[in-house]
Amino acid sequence: MSIYDDIKKPVISLAPMEDVTDTVFRQIINSIQRPDLFYTEFVNVEGLNSVGREKVIHRLKYDPTQNPIIAQLWGIKPKNFFKGAQLVKELGFDGVDINMGCSVKKVVQRKAGSGLITQERDIVKRIIERTREGAVGLPVSVKTRLGWDSYDFEWIEFLIEQDLDVLTFNAVTAKGDMSLVPNWDIISKIVRLRDDMRSKTLIFGNGGISSLKQAKEYAKKYCVDGVMIGRAALSNPWIFSQQDEVSTEERIEMLREQVILFQKTWGKKKSYNKLKKFIKTYINGFSGSQEIREDLMECKSIEELLEKTDNLFD
Ligand SMILES: Cc1cc2nc3c(=O)[nH]c(=O)nc-3n(C[C@H](O)[C@H](O)[C@H](O)COP(=O)(O)O)c2cc1C
Repeated sequence: MSIYDDIKKPVISLAPMEDVTDTVFRQIINSIQRPDLFYTEFVNVEGLNSVGREKVIHRLKYDPTQNPIIAQLWGIKPKNFFKGAQLVKELGFDGVDINMGCSVKKVVQRKAGSGLITQERDIVKRIIERTREGAVGLPVSVKTRLGWDSYDFEWIEFLIEQDLDVLTFNAVTAKGDMSLVPNWDIISKIVRLRDDMRSKTLIFGNGGISSLKQAKEYAKKYCVDGVMIGRAALSNPWIFSQQDEVSTEERIEMLREQVILFQKTWGKKKSYNKLKKFIKTYINGFSGSQEIREDLMECKSIEELLEKTDNLFD
């Protein structure tokens, strides 16, 4: 029995985003309106199995109110995926997602993330198998792209053959011109291919979605089982609610809530700089927001930011 048996379709989820979708931001989204499914930021399995474990394990922190939630792992060594998946199971997550889509340099250089698209298929198979063994019964999914530098149906067909619970496609390639504009037509071709192959794997689409309405429209139009929303949630944490307008007071209040929760959750463990991008999240779209934002960006500490935002109400 997996969460995907019960969960309503299309499954609208919050995409995994490094240094964005930590337990604090997910909690904030939860307090407004949660998506159907959460993911953690990606967690490096080599890091989890090294002396540097402390540097990455914080990414698996979550609050039980966030279930259903999937932990996302990235790396290269099958044995580390095995141990990583065991830990994910122990911690009470609802599934394991394997990152085969990240294209940032530090990841691709190690042939991990989207680098796996260019690897021997045997290695990819071993990673999936060992993750499954570690996850004992938890659903296992893969998030990837449409290919390395061109649409790659050999890669896509290979993944469908792996009998995964879910395959999520960010509708771009890792490199080249097709890495820029999401192509959802390819995603609907993948859905047809999945049906032709008589596979039960759910297909989720991702890339360039800007509202809940668009997510639902795309699910219908492209026949996917789910839609994942990333950057649009960072610029609008209200995205999963039906709320069209958010007042200035509400925006400032929510920024303050996030800052206070960040401090309570992480203390000195995470640098204040990781919070700064959220000033832009909340302080935008109202008259005078640019000046206020620029002023708040000058703050050097949480205390200063809280003091300044408190004074905004005067
Ligand atoms: C700041 C940032 C961090 C990201 N970190 C991850 C990650 O940890 N794991 C992952 O699979 N994708 C990651 N992504 C990719 C997103 O999950 C998503 O696939 C991509 O942003 C496209 O969706 P969007 O157009 O809705 O943003 C990240 C994207 C951004 C912008």
